[in-house]
Amino acid sequence: MRRVTLTQFLIEEQRKKQIIQSDLRLLLEVVARACKAISIAIGKGGLADVLGSAASENVQGEVQKKLDVISNEILLEANEWGGHLAAMASEEMDHPYAIPHRYPKGEYLLLFDPLDGSSNIDVNVSVGTIFSVLRCPEGIVQPEEHHFLQPGARQVCAGYAVYGPTTLLVLTLGSGVHAFTLDREFGSFVLTQRDLTIPPETKEFSINMSNMRHWEPPVKRYIEELLAGKTGPRGKDFNMRWVASMVADVHRIITRGGIFMYPRDAREPDKPGKLRIMYEANPMSFIVEQAGGAATNGRQRILDVQPQTLHERVAVFLGSRSEVERVTSYHLE
Ligand code: AHG
Ligand code: MN
Ligand code: MN
Repeated sequence: MRRVTLTQFLIEEQRKKQIIQSDLRLLLEVVARACKAISIAIGKGGLADVLGSAASENVQGEVQKKLDVISNEILLEANEWGGHLAAMASEEMDHPYAIPHRYPKGEYLLLFDPLDGSSNIDVNVSVGTIFSVLRCPEGIVQPEEHHFLQPGARQVCAGYAVYGPTTLLVLTLGSGVHAFTLDREFGSFVLTQRDLTIPPETKEFSINMSNMRHWEPPVKRYIEELLAGKTGPRGKDFNMRWVASMVADVHRIITRGGIFMYPRDAREPDKPGKLRIMYEANPMSFIVEQAGGAATNGRQRILDVQPQTLHERVAVFLGSRSEVERVTSYHLE
């Protein structure tokens, strides 16, 4: 079989479908290179001084891990000088990052969760990087926070890397979802799966059950029905998995089906959920929809939500279409 590297794939897509601009191709190559560097940093583990906390907090009041900070810096440094970006925004930075004046500027906005699932770092469980690409509004040279606040449906491209037993890069440019595996001997990402599709039916769900007492009634009802198994209203047994790295949980669902949920939580009623719309929910929803699945906040398609602030949170229900539609319909009843 002919090996197709990420570079080749992007050039061929550009020729075939004319959907990729040269700048966007450069952007994806640079992000992929940054993910390679993050994968190497993570892989050092206890051999280098990269594990543990960084003695700092991010804007959401979460203690940063050293690797949260390292991964953020890798992505910033890799992307600031190529001329393909207008600005960047990250889960780990209070405000958007302006491209330094000494470099040319491009037409895209890059948003990322540099290290997703970072609580898993110290226990050697899969973590990842999630990214989203938007177009900078026309005529804007110094993008500000409100220029990033576009609904997810406007994403040009989105992807994630999973740093697991292998390092995988999964991406969509709006025509299907494709997976690339890092070939460590050659140092390049190689296309290993084209047009990933999520099975519409499933027997697997993914949620942090310890929060059950804080959920809203429709979520409690939905989960109770799954837990009732064969003799309950669903007439079949369901299995549960929760890695606590969104990338790993979503990647499993993209591979073999399932539903992933992080519902709104009564503990912090002013926060509609834990996951961040710009860095986590939007890119993952774009990918899941492109793979034939669905993604809602319980009431509305996530990609249609108009974000109000950069670090806004949202409830997330995504994965196999029939299950997402069911739990959404319970919210709307
Ligand atoms: P991050 O490490 O970027 O802060 O994200 C962690 C998120 C997500 O990856 C995961 O699904 C969820 O938090 C796990 O939450 P719990 O610890 O509440 O299970
Ligand atoms: Mn995350
Ligand atoms: Mn993170």
